[in-house]
Amino acid sequence: MKISVYDTKEQIGAEVAKIIADLIKRKPDCVLGLATGASPIPAYKALIEMYKKGEISFKDVTTFNLDEYCQIPRSDKNSYFTFMHEELFDHIDIKEENVNFLDGTAQDAAQECKRYDALIDKKGGIDLQVLGIGNNAHIGFNEPTERFSSGSYKTKLSNSTIEANKMYFQNGEMPHYALTMGVSGICKSKAIVLIATGEKKAQAVYNMIKKDITPHVPASILQRHDKTAVFLDKAAASLL
Ligand code: PGA
Repeated sequence: MKISVYDTKEQIGAEVAKIIADLIKRKPDCVLGLATGASPIPAYKALIEMYKKGEISFKDVTTFNLDEYCQIPRSDKNSYFTFMHEELFDHIDIKEENVNFLDGTAQDAAQECKRYDALIDKKGGIDLQVLGIGNNAHIGFNEPTERFSSGSYKTKLSNSTIEANKMYFQNGEMPHYALTMGVSGICKSKAIVLIATGEKKAQAVYNMIKKDITPHVPASILQRHDKTAVFLDKAAASLL
């Protein structure tokens, strides 16, 4: 893992956007794995600026998002589908048919997960995966558990994740299940960029980097992925 520490979220956003932009310039039809949450927003803002200046185009780029809530439709304002459109896709020239999400409302979740993993493979795999990290060191919605997951699957969100995310939902009522790419699926990405900012992430970051690899710290698996770059602010890096 390559660890870099910055003063501000905006600096991290600019650096991560530069990595993504360089990939798009090198490989205009690249496949990006994208994440929701607060962590990647500055990078998405920086990418929108680069697109507006004519520096990059997303017209041949394909994206796969990491996860999606169950029990709410794509049209819901809290779906990750909506989040990604508001924070990135509506502001760039990506083609809607190249934007991929797990369908959290699918009747047959297992079948939907198989479809998603097969489609990622068909597109040649993910060139660059953007990740955040949960306060409990989850990646995607892979919560701490007894075994590392492989392909995409339906997961029950942990209390820690529900606590962290419920502020986005009216009355704090939010889905307790989601579909997520599995840990092995994430690790198949050719390169990974993980962003963590703020003091609340410090323990998870420490456990990810310094502790043994264990499914109780899902992000610790990234120690084995030699093309992982971790971008931290000083607060998130404070225990290292
Ligand atoms: P955050 O979430 O970027 O909103 O902190 C990260 C995560 O839960 O994976």
